[in-house]
Amino acid sequence: MKVAATACLVLLLPMIAAAAPNAAEGRKLVEANHCEACHQGKFSGPVGTIYLRKDHKVANWAKLKSQVAMCNSQLNLSLFPEDEENIAAFLNATYYKFPAK
Ligand code: HEC
Repeated sequence: MKVAATACLVLLLPMIAAAAPNAAEGRKLVEANHCEACHQGKFSGPVGTIYLRKDHKVANWAKLKSQVAMCNSQLNLSLFPEDEENIAAFLNATYYKFPAK
C-alpha cells in the first residue's frame, strides 16, 4: 500500500510540475508583447502602476485570467491559454498577490 502510494506520487509529480503556471515564462511574455509600454502610456508612473492603481479592475485570480485573455484577444497577440496562465502567474506573483487558487 505504502509502495503503491509512493509510486503514484513519483508518477504524478512531473505532471503537476508541467501543468503549474510558470511566472518566469510569464515575465518573458509580458516583455516580448510590450504590455507595459502601452500600460505606461495610459497610466503614467513606474511599471506596474496599472495593476496597483487604486481603482484597478482585477480583484481576484479568475478576473486576472480573464483580463489577460481579453488583452490577448483584443490585441490579437495569439497567445496560447498556457501563455495566459503563465502571464497571470507572473502578474500575480509580482503585483496582485492573490492567494493561491
Ligand atoms: C495597446 C495597449 C495595451 C496593451 C499592448 C496591453 N494592454 Fe493591458 N490594459 C490596457 C488598458 C487601457 C487597460 C485598462 C483597462 C481599464 O482600466 O478599463 C489594461 C488593463 C490590463 C490589466 C488589468 C489591470 C487592473 O487591475 O486594472 C491587465 C492584467 C492587463 N492589462 C494585462 C495585459 C497584458 C498581460 C498585456 C500583454 C500581453 C497587455 N495588458 C497589453 C491596454 C493595453
